Amino acid sequence: MIKIFDTTLRDGEQSPGCSMNLNEKIQMARQLERLGVDIIEAGFASSSPGDFKSVEELSKAIKNSTVASLARCVKNDIDVAYDAVKFAAKPRLHIFLATSEIHMKYKLQMSEEEVLEKVKKYVSYAKSKCDDIEFSAEDATRSDVEFLCKVFAVAIEAGATTINIPDTVGYITPNEYADIIKRVKEGTKGIENIDISVHCHNDLGLAVANSLSAIEAGATQVECTVNGIGERAGNTALEELVMALKTRRDYYKKDTNIVTEEIMNASNLLAQITGVKISPNKPIVGKNAFAHESGIHQHGVLKERTTYEIMDPKSIGLNKNSIVLGKHSGKHALKDKLNELGYEVTSDELEKLFIKFKELSDLKKTVFDEDIRAIMVRELQNVED
Ligand code: KIV
Ligand code: ZN
Repeated sequence: MIKIFDTTLRDGEQSPGCSMNLNEKIQMARQLERLGVDIIEAGFASSSPGDFKSVEELSKAIKNSTVASLARCVKNDIDVAYDAVKFAAKPRLHIFLATSEIHMKYKLQMSEEEVLEKVKKYVSYAKSKCDDIEFSAEDATRSDVEFLCKVFAVAIEAGATTINIPDTVGYITPNEYADIIKRVKEGTKGIENIDISVHCHNDLGLAVANSLSAIEAGATQVECTVNGIGERAGNTALEELVMALKTRRDYYKKDTNIVTEEIMNASNLLAQITGVKISPNKPIVGKNAFAHESGIHQHGVLKERTTYEIMDPKSIGLNKNSIVLGKHSGKHALKDKLNELGYEVTSDELEKLFIKFKELSDLKKTVFDEDIRAIMVRELQNVED
């Protein structure tokens, strides 16, 4: 079983234009719970009074999923994060510190020894407050892997129950990521019963591929967001990752607790709340993801859906696929549309209507139901004349 850690309300909210108010976050969190995510990262409690309030309120509202708050390796951050999540049925503290040479030198101005000290001190402190502790090595994919293993061993010894290997800047490629995961699994003392989490950013468009590759290498938790929102180019898109695992169950042989029929509801709710539109060709939830325009495809799908569809639209909560009439459409699709609109036509009538339809589709990108009705009205008038 792969645990799904949803960070729509924390990393996702860091996406420009995606900030949400308290009520919106509560609505979204309730939908995430219906979706069946294992962990909801509710926010970064110490980052603002508003974030504290929303983590606190979400902790009270959510009953089934674990609720997490992010915190730096700073005593006050951990205190504030715990004060906010302590009401949750299942609280988690998510502590992070950077481990790459670039971050240690320019951002933290700390040596490797100082980083190890800090991890030990603050993971132990967090553990004194909360049982469920996740430790993230920020910029892990640009860190020295041997050092990474030392950091994780210290975090585990201090009480971490999940270790996270983030691709913070979306830099890694799938094979390299799998290699890091394997080396961490083999080289970290005490890792046997610990969840290995991955958190991928999409700067090179590889977040989902990297997460899947990490699962093959032994990751047991994936961090993701609805519609893939998040810092810069976003995070692993929950719906893409989950549907890849479900559709290719034969290959990955891993399940999640996600109720996939709730995917469209989650995607639409987020788009409505943030006002950020989903691109039409976005996998799974884009307007065109289950639309068929070309005649050959339409003919195939109308006869047998699986000819051109690898997923059942119902499995993500869509009523049905859509046959979009345009210049590539054929007679089967037109006949099907006419029947759907209540018209029964003979094959001679269909031939004539098809000529009219083709003339119109050369002039318009999409032929809508109203256009078909207009053609029919004109044809019927001609017959009467
Ligand atoms: O991208 C990142 O490294 C993060 C961590 C805080 C997990 O968001
Ligand atoms: Zn991130």
